[in-house]
Amino acid sequence: MEIPGALRLSDLDLRGKRLLLRCDLNVPIESGRVADDFRIRAALPGIRAALEAGAAVVAATHLGRPKGRFDAALSVRPVAERLAGLLPAPVRFRPEPVRPGARPPGRRPEEPAPGEALVLENLRFHPGEEANDPDFAAALAAFGDEYANDAFGAAHRRHASVDACARRFPRAAGGPLLEREVAELGSLLGSPRRPFVAVLGGAKISDKAAVVESLLARADRVLLGGAMAYTFLAARGVPTGRSLVEPDRIAGAARLLARCADRLDLPLDHRAAPVDGSAAGEEAAPSVFPEAGLPGGWKGLDIGPETAERYASAIGSAATVLWNGPLGLAEDPRFAGGTNRIAAAVAEAADRGAATVVGGGDSLAAVRRAGFADRIGHLSTGGGAALAFLAGEPLPGLDALAASGRRAPPRPPRTPPETRTE
Ligand code: 3PG
Repeated sequence: MEIPGALRLSDLDLRGKRLLLRCDLNVPIESGRVADDFRIRAALPGIRAALEAGAAVVAATHLGRPKGRFDAALSVRPVAERLAGLLPAPVRFRPEPVRPGARPPGRRPEEPAPGEALVLENLRFHPGEEANDPDFAAALAAFGDEYANDAFGAAHRRHASVDACARRFPRAAGGPLLEREVAELGSLLGSPRRPFVAVLGGAKISDKAAVVESLLARADRVLLGGAMAYTFLAARGVPTGRSLVEPDRIAGAARLLARCADRLDLPLDHRAAPVDGSAAGEEAAPSVFPEAGLPGGWKGLDIGPETAERYASAIGSAATVLWNGPLGLAEDPRFAGGTNRIAAAVAEAADRGAATVVGGGDSLAAVRRAGFADRIGHLSTGGGAALAFLAGEPLPGLDALAASGRRAPPRPPRTPPETRTE
């Protein structure tokens, strides 16, 4: 599906050109190696399409949050190495970070030839990237004759590679991953098949309040879990013990409950650990507490078994399922039961034909740990970007492409292959 108002990669004439391709190759690195290449694999269709169209691909990404300074632990080199293992084409890495004032890249020996790729060093090694600095954008733009953005995960950032750089090109196109994400997430906001059940977890309601609100307006049921559910339980007057509650969000949660209690499900029981002030109590065996809530000194760290079954059954009768955020402290096996049950229920829903979308690092990890990844309809690469999109917030990355689509000159006619002189 096309991104509204934006050009597509196929609208660019890439033969013999350098395509500056903004990707989101922000992946976990452990001991100098890529620990999870999901996002690199997700970027492959865009890179391959450009290479096949005859471009030299210059891939640009951020990695982590180095705050404008070089940090060897956040070098993109391992990403380039992994990419080289996944592409049949030659892939080179440019270790010198992009910076304004540096010698503009001409045709130099390290430049990729058509059909080859060059990966630029972490864009965030220069403060100009996050500052959306025009000089940094110009330095980056010098790497491409054409520009495309396929970095859905960074589309909510008004950063130079996403915004100012895109706006420098007469034509800026959206890549296939960006298109797929917009289509899949957009269908949830548009006309989802019903019943539409959304499952939201995670630690903080402050990160997700806008999404909860937006989904309550669209979904038939919103099932809440994770620490953020305790702010809602507190708003309902349920004792929450030492669970993570955001006091300044209780009034907002109470308002949502008053308006949408029929569509908003909260945990009925809890797996909790004693907290003795030293946090050592969290090491103890968990206990299950019923609906009456948690006594002081106990911290809720997962939904309980009754809630897990109730949520699984709601997912079981849904035609569309969106899941974002773990239902408990899923990295600790004692508190992963709820998250794992939801992962299984979403996979089963997908098997019987429901539209299923899973996003957010921890939910994706749970789905993959359980071996369900291949069964889910769409695994979103976007964390904050997916939440912003689902909350209906404008995404600078999409806006820059739409602006380019509006002012793009008509596409020059392609030279038919038989009349080419080369
Ligand atoms: C992500 O991991 O969600 C994206 O790569 C964006 O990263 P950021 O939150 O550091 O901007």
